[in-house]
Amino acid sequence: MNDLKEKYKKDNLAWDDCAETYERQIVSGHPDINAFEKFEEDFLDRLLIYLIEKQNRHIKLMDIGCGSGRLHLRYGTKTINSSKKPQLTALTNMKRIHPELAYDPSLEKGLSEVWGIDFSSRMLNLAKKKIKSTQLSEAKTIPLIFKQGSAFELEEQSGNSLPVAVSLVNSISTMQGPMGAIELFKSMRRSVETSGGIAIISNYQKEYIESYGLGQYESTLDVSGQPWWIVPDTYASSRFRHKPKHYIRAYSKDPKLLVDIYDRKNNLIKKDYILRRNPKRTAKVIETGHIRTHTDYESQWYSFKEMDDWIKTHWSGKTYHFKTKCLDKLRAEPAQISVLDSGNLLKDLFKRWQLN
Ligand SMILES: C[S@@+](CC[C@H](N)C(=O)[O-])C[C@H]1O[C@@H](n2cnc3c(N)ncnc32)[C@H](O)[C@@H]1O
Repeated sequence: MNDLKEKYKKDNLAWDDCAETYERQIVSGHPDINAFEKFEEDFLDRLLIYLIEKQNRHIKLMDIGCGSGRLHLRYGTKTINSSKKPQLTALTNMKRIHPELAYDPSLEKGLSEVWGIDFSSRMLNLAKKKIKSTQLSEAKTIPLIFKQGSAFELEEQSGNSLPVAVSLVNSISTMQGPMGAIELFKSMRRSVETSGGIAIISNYQKEYIESYGLGQYESTLDVSGQPWWIVPDTYASSRFRHKPKHYIRAYSKDPKLLVDIYDRKNNLIKKDYILRRNPKRTAKVIETGHIRTHTDYESQWYSFKEMDDWIKTHWSGKTYHFKTKCLDKLRAEPAQISVLDSGNLLKDLFKRWQLN
């Protein structure tokens, strides 16, 4: 447990440190990650609408590791009919550019709250800024609640709404290694089970670390530092900032990574600097799924089997576990979704999607 506490503290600092770059380079950046996020959002929209329309539920959506509030922004926006509020020009303009944020009457009817927790105050500040700049704070939409705290200490839910707790876009892999992952499984179960709620964990499979993972971390190395398998390490310290020239897409065979190097005062130190994979270290990452950078950021990609074992050990009742490529091979080839459906509410929907 002490080890987990230490990791928690270290990771908390790391996430505070990279919040703004994460937002720029990943949330609104990497094309493969973005495509996957869009898949997750479509999946969740359909699941929520099914629960509202076919199961007559009111839902409290809980986002565990909510970061900069992607789901708060999405559902805050989708539950508001901006044609009735023409004075909110920022909100109206955002909806115009993003048709996926269009008003949805079913969600307005059934979504009672979006609640999120994250340990990083800097990530949460970004989220709150976005809520303000898009005028959602003025729009009197559903409650959009943020809590700073641990994903491992979720409270048992007992209100009138059905809790649907989600932990998306590989957040489990950032949650302090296997010890943290197990705590997340237990904590999500504790929060939803007694009220018949649903827990969903969506993450990449370790099996895809070579085709998807390596390139993602390499081409976003200004977020969490130069990956340990990339050399030389001349500038691999927190004194320098690497700016990648382009995103590396899945299955890329390009052996070199081109970056510009800046110092902390933003002076250009080296242009078009070439980094390459060290074969031995790369093989180690592919074998273990363990990501780390020269500046000690860590995350862990879990295999389908590991997730399957944790479902069996730490969840009970009706569960599902599937490879997301069976729903959407183009956008979701490398991931997997684990579902605890304590009230057995998703049976018909998942049958229709051939997930049972
Ligand atoms: C991959 S990001 C995902 C962010 C967000 N869900 C999204 O979709 O954009 C993972 C998030 O988990 C948070 N995190 C990591 N470990 C945590 C923990 N033990 N408790 C709470 N938050 C944690 C990080 O601060 C980060 O914001």
